[in-house]
Amino acid sequence: MTMTTAANAPATGVWEISIYEAIGGRAALTAAVDNFYGRLLADPELARFFPDGVGPRHRAYLVTVLGEALGGRERYRGPDLAAAHRGLSITDAQFDRTAAHLAGTLDELGVPRDLADRIIGIVAGLRPVVVTG
Ligand code: HEM
Repeated sequence: MTMTTAANAPATGVWEISIYEAIGGRAALTAAVDNFYGRLLADPELARFFPDGVGPRHRAYLVTVLGEALGGRERYRGPDLAAAHRGLSITDAQFDRTAAHLAGTLDELGVPRDLADRIIGIVAGLRPVVVTG
């Protein structure tokens, strides 16, 4: 006899909550983005992309992009992502460095490792629109 329990229910079951909700929604993502930009701006290899720092508008955009990517009820309507990065000649190595800072943020904020790995995997999907160098 086959039984479906919480432990073996399909990952798409009705009880599943999004990663967005699991980590604490927009408030948690906002804290993560602030921590993340602190790391980015402290890294000379990446800070030079942001000579004027990173303002609240830009931070809010990133929160929304990530919130949407993580399955939240967020819809990004800011500048086109590919267009925003096109002229910047961002390399794969710089993208990797950025992703490593995000991983450091998630670790520092206590996001469980398996969840953090899934988040990094989802963000890695944006590589083709960001890397232009
Ligand atoms: C998955 C990774 C990334 C996401 C989701 C992302 C998201 C965004 C968004 C939403 C914007 C438009 C916001 C705005 O114009 O205010 C933007 C612009 C920008 N991004 Fe990214 N980005 C990513 C990776 C990177 C990387 C790796 C770099 C550099 C190392 C970078 C550098 C920039 C710069 C310099 C701008 C223009 C900022 C400005 O005009 O003030 N981004 N990004």
